Amino acid sequence: AITSVTGRRVLDSRGNPTVEVDVVLSDGSLGRAAVPSGASTGAREAVELRDGDPARWHGKGVDRAVGHVNTELTEAVLGRDAEDQAGLDAALVAADGTASKSRLGANAILGVSLAAAKAAAAAHRLPLYRYLGGSDARLLPVPMMNIVNGGAHADNPLDFQEFMIAPIGAETFAEAVRMGSEVFHTLRRDLLAAGHSTGVGDEGGFAPSLRTAEEALDFVVAAVERTGYRPGTDIGLVMDPATSEFFRDGVYDYAGEGVRRTPAEHADYLVKLIDAYPVVSVEDAMAEDDLDGWRELTARVGDRCQLTGDDVFCTNDALLREGIASGVANSILVKVNQIGTLTEAMTTVSTAHRAGYTVVMSHRSGETEDTTIADLAVATGCGQIKTGSLSRSDRTAKYNQLIRIEEELGTSARYAGTEALRAR
Ligand code: PGA
Ligand code: ZN
Repeated sequence: AITSVTGRRVLDSRGNPTVEVDVVLSDGSLGRAAVPSGASTGAREAVELRDGDPARWHGKGVDRAVGHVNTELTEAVLGRDAEDQAGLDAALVAADGTASKSRLGANAILGVSLAAAKAAAAAHRLPLYRYLGGSDARLLPVPMMNIVNGGAHADNPLDFQEFMIAPIGAETFAEAVRMGSEVFHTLRRDLLAAGHSTGVGDEGGFAPSLRTAEEALDFVVAAVERTGYRPGTDIGLVMDPATSEFFRDGVYDYAGEGVRRTPAEHADYLVKLIDAYPVVSVEDAMAEDDLDGWRELTARVGDRCQLTGDDVFCTNDALLREGIASGVANSILVKVNQIGTLTEAMTTVSTAHRAGYTVVMSHRSGETEDTTIADLAVATGCGQIKTGSLSRSDRTAKYNQLIRIEEELGTSARYAGTEALRAR
């Protein structure tokens, strides 16, 4: 049973405060979880509670959320069986009482939810992926490595937020990391040679002063080739344009490029990129409020490109179900803090898998050293993870945890590879 819950304020990778929670069980088992934070958040995400006091932390304080962990949420779970994750999460949701988790804060609630799961795993002396996923949990995900940052994650003019490489042709996860690192360093040299900055953005990818997606994609393809890999076969390209950030008044406003595209023009442009480059997956290709655009693009290229919904679904089972019923996307990004409890995130994963949608486990742009999502990717067998670039310890911590898991699984480990991007 849970004997103590402690919330505290720690720093995230952007130097902002975030919530960390310790849950201790009667046998002394400890579970600890730190909560991540997004910058390009979906409008229908569970609410991250910030203090809003401009005199402290520029308004981003989490003292109220931490306070809720240490009072109301502690009361809700004290004495509970940590193994009953569904019951525990229901108690957390009930204590908050709002649909959006805005009263106590999804950041407060998620910290308790994940820390309890980790404490229960510790009590069983099992790694989290095994505790949650059982003996079937042996599929290592294809990493989508974000090596060029733009949009809300960098100060450059790039309108698209993320340009990623996915080593689909690797034999093992460890090899996928090697391939990604090699390309990352080739890209660094290429950017330097072309006179660009090699400073990195929030997710550890380079943030050169490029204007168009084509320029970024050209650099990435060249780096893949010059490192000795075949674009599209060994390494696929993935984009997250995070279009909800620049969809205004019914128009996609590419401010960096200085072009405005109607939804139809924007879709044509994306299809052109998908056809011209070895793009295997596009996330948030259309904006969260452009469901017609989503449906049209899915009908047009959904059979040859993974189309992943992030802001449009917000890891929310009800939103996903609506999307499935109306032909929006064929894949979902899962960010546990978008919904606020482990149980709800797992329900969303099950719904996606039942519908033949692929699932990409994901970090946020504001992260910590917490590696829970690495275990969740293996526990769910989802086959794909998005956790940033090959630099910054907040990003590499997840890759390193997956390297350890692969080692621990030994000969039973399987690397998801190209198959992971195909609907099940
Ligand atoms: P965020 O970005 O964590 O800043 O929301 C990540 C994403 O859009 O996938
Ligand atoms: Zn996204």
